[in-house]
Amino acid sequence: MKIIKANDYQSMSRMAANIISAQIIMKPDCVLGLATGSSPIGTYDQLVEWYKKGDLDFSQVSSINLDEYVGLSADNDQSYRYFMNTHLFDRVNIDKTRTFVPNGLELDNEKACKAYNEIIKEHGPIDLQLLGLGCNGHIGFNEPGEAFEKETHCVDLTQSTIEANARFFASMDEVPKQAYTMGIKTIMQAKKIVVVVNGKAKAQAVKDCFFGPVTPKVPGSVLQLHNDVTVVGDAEALSLVEGLY
Ligand code: F6R
Repeated sequence: MKIIKANDYQSMSRMAANIISAQIIMKPDCVLGLATGSSPIGTYDQLVEWYKKGDLDFSQVSSINLDEYVGLSADNDQSYRYFMNTHLFDRVNIDKTRTFVPNGLELDNEKACKAYNEIIKEHGPIDLQLLGLGCNGHIGFNEPGEAFEKETHCVDLTQSTIEANARFFASMDEVPKQAYTMGIKTIMQAKKIVVVVNGKAKAQAVKDCFFGPVTPKVPGSVLQLHNDVTVVGDAEALSLVEGLY
């Protein structure tokens, strides 16, 4: 595992974008595993900037996202498909028919997960998986306690996540109660993994995931068992592991 320290969010984003950009240059028809959330937004902005300058070409790239809320459509601004369209896909020359996000509108959980596993089998393996880290060490929607050997599955969101999301919706009924997520088994099959992590709130998660015991209680700790993981963190996120890498 490599840990790279960046001074701040912007520099973290540029470094992560550099790694992704190298992947696309080395293998133009690569499969990227992508994440949503605040951590990778700067990385996507940087990739878009390089694309606009003519330095990057996404025309042969495919992408497979980590997760999606159950019940949300692509045009719901809280859906992860909407997030990916607005932050990356609509801003570069990627072929949208080769960008995959679990189908939030498929309410039959088993069917949705099976379909996504088939997509991953057909288009994978993922060449480079980009990950963010939850404050509790989660990766994707794999929360503490999830078995390491799972593929795509449906998770019940915790009450605290539902309550935190409530502010984005008109009523409590509209707040998603479940999500589909790529499982840890699939994440671990990616050839290369890049984790972007910033801010003080993530410092304990960084320590637990990369310097603590490997345990399902800390989902991200499984990454210690992968042979090509690069963690790009800002100074705050790496503040508790200073001198350990
Ligand atoms: C997003 C995802 C999540 C986030 C994590 C960190 O697709 O799967 O695991 O990466 O919750 O979120 P941020 O970056 O918002 O702190």
